[in-house]
This record gives sequence, structure tokens and C-alpha cells, in this order.
Amino acid sequence: MFWRGKYTPLAADDVEGGLKNPVRLSNWLMLRRVRTAIVAIVLLLLLAVLLFQYPDLNERVREYAHNATASAPAVCDCPTAGSNGNLPGNVNDTLSPESSMQWSDFAYVQYVTNPSYLCNSLMIFEALRRYTTKAELLMMYPQEWQIPVEINEGAEFETKLLVKARDEYKVQMAPIQVKTFQNEKDPTWQDSYTKLLAFNQTQYKRVISIDSDGTLLDNMDELFLLPSAPVAMPRAYWMPEKFFLSSQLIVIEPSEIEWKRVGYAIDHHEGHDYDMDILNKLYGKSSTVIPHRRYDLLSGEFHDTEHENYLGSPNEKWDPKVALEEAKFVHFSDWPMPKPWLEPLPGMVDKNQPKCRKISTETNEYDCTDREVWLGIRKNFTERRRHICGREYDAEARPPKKRTLADARAGRPWYEPVFD
Ligand SMILES: *[C@@H]1O[C@H](CO)[C@@H](O)[C@H](O)[C@H]1NC(C)=O
Ligand SMILES: *[C@@H]1O[C@H](CO)[C@@H](O)[C@H](O)[C@H]1NC(C)=O
Ligand SMILES: *[C@@H]1O[C@H](CO)[C@@H](O)[C@H](O)[C@H]1NC(C)=O
Ligand SMILES: *[C@@H]1O[C@H](CO)[C@@H](O)[C@H](O)[C@H]1NC(C)=O
Repeated sequence: MFWRGKYTPLAADDVEGGLKNPVRLSNWLMLRRVRTAIVAIVLLLLLAVLLFQYPDLNERVREYAHNATASAPAVCDCPTAGSNGNLPGNVNDTLSPESSMQWSDFAYVQYVTNPSYLCNSLMIFEALRRYTTKAELLMMYPQEWQIPVEINEGAEFETKLLVKARDEYKVQMAPIQVKTFQNEKDPTWQDSYTKLLAFNQTQYKRVISIDSDGTLLDNMDELFLLPSAPVAMPRAYWMPEKFFLSSQLIVIEPSEIEWKRVGYAIDHHEGHDYDMDILNKLYGKSSTVIPHRRYDLLSGEFHDTEHENYLGSPNEKWDPKVALEEAKFVHFSDWPMPKPWLEPLPGMVDKNQPKCRKISTETNEYDCTDREVWLGIRKNFTERRRHICGREYDAEARPPKKRTLADARAGRPWYEPVFD
């Protein structure tokens, strides 16, 4: 039986469940109204009793609502850079007066395994200080490396950089045991696991790992305030595999449980799995996804003619200057162009720089903005490297290696590993 609003006499077939008598039906309706009225009266009475018993209920509800709003972790409530005149990264800057989290619970983490990456990491840390991050800075370094209390004249290049990180950029230094695999000869492959030791840095509630072979264009402090999740990563938007996550930027909640999972996956890795493959296996379906746009732009994007994958739609027009301006992180992926700390061989830049685009066939006009932006990013990297580490290049580039058939057969990833 369903309610039809006002009582209307029902046709016999409409009636089910034995309510065949219209008189008895109207009685029932009346009864139902009566019942509703009784329930309403009882509820009102109850409410009155409640209000009588707790005259301050109204106030308490308001206070509760106020507390809830006040303690909500509002992203717009982020402290602005230098607004309080504190030194950048002052650990006692709390997120908001009501939050139990402190900026000292958060750190940007870098790992170093060789002198090139040591300098790259320093450049990331220098940028984070320049962009006045509120979080701490953490460097994981091989425990065999000695860091003297004070630097003397004859100190080695690496030693100077380590001391500079600690003393000038106020970086926390975490000695780690770099994992080596007996059967594996490829050192680049072995190093890629070191990044994952960030899961074990449980002295922090959240860490952000940023690949050091890139240029940081802003701090990313807002990512520390993402809703809680073991990991958050952007998508590797350049890969044909849909939904594959990029490990160039990882927001991690270090914990014993997650570190055990990751450690187990490292010890039982399959074939030539890199850190990125492992993370996708473990977190591919559950990771928070950070927008790749702004947070993980490949320098190779300035070579491309299609930008739908990066921009997220075919509707927007690619503007290289706007893309650079809005980006917070640009990762150097320009294969076969070498990484920017390797001195290009003669002709390499000319051959591999982005092409100018013809904008008019009549006037023969060209637009070279892509090229200018791309060259600018590399020039900026080189200048900062000289300034921060005292040298522009670590070595001369080698002619690019080709991906061999053996690589393909062994299932080695075609995408560019971090170490090159
Ligand atoms: C609201 O916050 C104040 C101060 O922290 C606390 O004393 C009070 O009990 C809170 N009220 C409620 C309803 O949670
Ligand atoms: C930060 O807080 C800690 C513990 O609350 C305190 O020991 C330290 O002196 C504070 N540092 C600054 C710079 O205020
Ligand atoms: C993980 O962290 C713990 C505690 O700091 C440390 O004892 C352990 O050696 C670390 N594990 C690895 C593989 O570095
Ligand atoms: C590199 O670029 C950044 C961001 O545009 C700028 O702030 C910095 O001054 C540049 N550094 C050099 C050495 O050109």
C-alpha cells in the first residue's frame, strides 16, 4: 500500500493486503494522524525536558561549532613566507594555534650516494631556503662518510659540501646504510632504492622526497597538509601506461608498517624494478594523487608539440612561459640530452634543443619561446651550481647510450632512470 495524499476511494484492484473496506481505511488514516500527533508531542516534550535540564545546550553547540572551525586544518591558513619575521624554517612555527602538528614534524628529504647527487641535493636545499620553507631539511647520506665539526683548508670537495649543508642550510644529517645487492652490477639500479629509506625516517610525521635532478621553483609546504595517507604522488603523465605514478615527487608518512612493506619489496624485487616500479606495485591503487601539473613538469615537455597530457585537456593552449611560471618543479628529462651537470659535447645542444615553430608561412616568422625557456632553465641550473658547489660541470657528457634489445628483453624500463 502506498500513500496517495488525500483519501480517494480506491478501485477494488488497487487495494491490497485486505484493506477492502473504505470506511475502515479512513479510520486507519485518522488513527495514523493521531499517532503522528502523539509522536510529535512526545518529541517536543523530550526537547523541552532536555533544554530545561541543559539550559546552556545552545551555547555549547555554538562553542562546539566554533571549535570545529577553528581547528580545521585550513590550507588557506598556511603561514606565509617570512610573515612573522622568523628565520626561514623556524621549527616552532605551528601550523595553526589549534593544530597539534608542528612544522618540525615535517621535512624535505634528499638522499646522496655520490658527489654529483650531493651537489644536486644542496641546490634543492638552497632553493627551499630561498623560498622560505617552514619545514625541516633532511639529508640521508652513507654512514661511512665523515662530517667534521669544523672545516679545514685542505678538506675534500664532498666534505665541504656536507658541512655547508649542515651549517649554512641547517640541514639535519641522517646517516644511512646504502643497500647493495650481491648479484647486481648496475650501480644506478642499486642507488634507486636509497630514496625509499625515507619511509624509515620515523622521527618525522611527513616527509617530501624530491628528485634532485631538477629545478625547484617554489616551496611545496602545502603538500604537508594533504589529508593523511601513506603516500601521495603525481602521475607520470608522460608514460603510455595510464595511471602510473611518478616517484620524482613523493609525500611520505614514514612508519614502521610501511617501511616493513617497502623493505620487503626491495629485498624481494623482481628483475630490474626501480624504486618507481616498487612504489607502483605497493601504492598504485591507493596513493593520493598530487596534480602533476605544476608539481612535476618534465623539461622534455618544451620539446613536444602535443601538450594535452600535461595540461589535462586539449582545450588549453600551450604557453611555455606560463607553464614555467606556474610550475613548482621541473625535472630534467631530455634524453638523449645529458643531465645538466654533465658538460655537453660540441653540437649536442644545437642538435637537441627545442625547435622554433613557424607561425606564419607568408612572413616566414618563427616562435622560439619553447627553446628560450628550455635553454633558460639549463643556464639557471649551471649558474646556481657554480655559485653553490663551486663548479659548473662534474664531467663531460658521454655519447648517449642506446636502449639495447637486451635491455628490452630483460624488461628494463624504457623511461629514464633518475641516475644518468
Ligand atoms: C572548545 O575548546 C576549548 C579550548 O580548547 C575547550 O576548553 C572546550 O572544552 C571546547 N569545547 C567543546 C564543546 O569541545
Ligand atoms: C622550540 O620549542 C622547543 C620545545 O618546545 C624549545 O626547547 C626551543 O627552545 C624552541 N626554540 C625556539 C627557537 O623558540
Ligand atoms: C630504520 O630505522 C631504524 C631506527 O632509526 C634503524 O635502527 C634501522 O637501521 C633503519 N633501517 C635501515 C635499513 O636503514
Ligand atoms: C634561477 O632562477 C630562479 C627562479 O626564476 C631565480 O630566482 C634565480 O635568481 C636564478 N638564479 C640564477 C643564478 O640565475
